[in-house]
Amino acid sequence: MFSEATLERFAREVAKYPADQKQSAVMACLTIAQQELGWVTPEAERGIADYLGMAPIAVREVTTFYNMYNQQPVGQFKLNVCTNLPCQLRNGQKALEYLCSKLGIEDGGTTPDGVFTVQKCECLGACADAPVALVNDRQMVSYMSNERLDGLVDLLRAKAKAE
Ligand code: FES
Repeated sequence: MFSEATLERFAREVAKYPADQKQSAVMACLTIAQQELGWVTPEAERGIADYLGMAPIAVREVTTFYNMYNQQPVGQFKLNVCTNLPCQLRNGQKALEYLCSKLGIEDGGTTPDGVFTVQKCECLGACADAPVALVNDRQMVSYMSNERLDGLVDLLRAKAKAE
């Protein structure tokens, strides 16, 4: 079910570990599968379990534990807003609610045009910069007041149009 290129990338990850510990590559393989498919499909989980000689439930546990793995299709830009306690005390929940209401979606939802997905998330390790959000699991944005959230949405929308 995986492309040749994906299988080659899996093999490179597995080669980093002793032969009897290839399961250690599970996170890397899930990341690679997600890059190829956009999300971690049930078939991909099973394929990775087979590939690494793991029980499918053990792969499922990893997918569901980490919020960077998409368990369903997501928009072009996934915005994770931290709502853990330190951020809650500095408007993290309000930032999430503002973003959801601005985009007309619920937490965990995707806009009908497929551009944005918004999700709450656990601590991003930048509590002092709250409210904080992560764009596509890579880029952290800090001090996200409503004005800064407006700016972020405008910027990403323009980027989506340009692509
Ligand atoms: S609690 Fe939000 S970044 Fe730590």
